[in-house]
Amino acid sequence: MMTRRQATTGILASAAAGASGVALAQELKPRDLPPARTAGGQPLIEALKLRRSIREYADRPLADQVLSDLLWAAFGVNRPSGDRTAPYWRHIMVIDVYAAMADGVWLYEPKAHALLPHMKDDIRALTGRQDFVGGAPLNLIYVAHGERMTDVAPEERRLYASVDTGFIGQNVYLFCASEGLATVFRGAVDYAKLAQTMKLPDQQFVTFAQTVGYPRA
Ligand SMILES: Cc1cc2nc3c(=O)[nH]c(=O)nc-3n(C[C@H](O)[C@H](O)[C@H](O)COP(=O)(O)O)c2cc1C
Repeated sequence: MMTRRQATTGILASAAAGASGVALAQELKPRDLPPARTAGGQPLIEALKLRRSIREYADRPLADQVLSDLLWAAFGVNRPSGDRTAPYWRHIMVIDVYAAMADGVWLYEPKAHALLPHMKDDIRALTGRQDFVGGAPLNLIYVAHGERMTDVAPEERRLYASVDTGFIGQNVYLFCASEGLATVFRGAVDYAKLAQTMKLPDQQFVTFAQTVGYPRA
């Protein structure tokens, strides 16, 4: 019988081979995340009162537990059905969440709640047109699978993908407000250059990015 760990590695290997444009399946070393804490935090009304965009970041990396909790809040699985903390268009999973950090770019795999390696380079500075993005510990990159939006005109794909992304982005804002973290959702991105750097397949495209970190004191 397969152990849980073997099963997880199998899921991760096939997810990486299918979802990622960069062939890393051979040298796959998923980054373990501690289980997300799904209790506690500020009351919703407090988080709404605190929500804001912040553009000045301390350069220290996010603690693993914080990263885990953040990704779960963003677009993690919150029900046995496998559905997520954010709603999504037509029950078709269009958005992938990538995490660009100093040690590379990782694809968040919500079912296993793990990070799959996408590329080893530090591309944080390429995730936006503003200077702070290169020094912040984490830039989330929201990537849409256009090829899954089969009966939608290509010019409408960005619309639906952007709405899905907006819900995830607000989850991140509220989580950060609750945890005293800094974040800003960003559209000022060189989309073509970022997609090329990430070696995204033709039909996949970046919708937005979002910086997360500890606020600079
Ligand atoms: C679709 C969208 C795109 C945005 N793009 C950027 C951006 O590229 N850079 C940035 O610094 N802020 C960006 N923001 C953040 C807004 O500037 C910010 O939410 C707005 O000024 C209100 O401030 P607040 O979030 O502190 O309430 C964006 C927000 C949205 C919703």
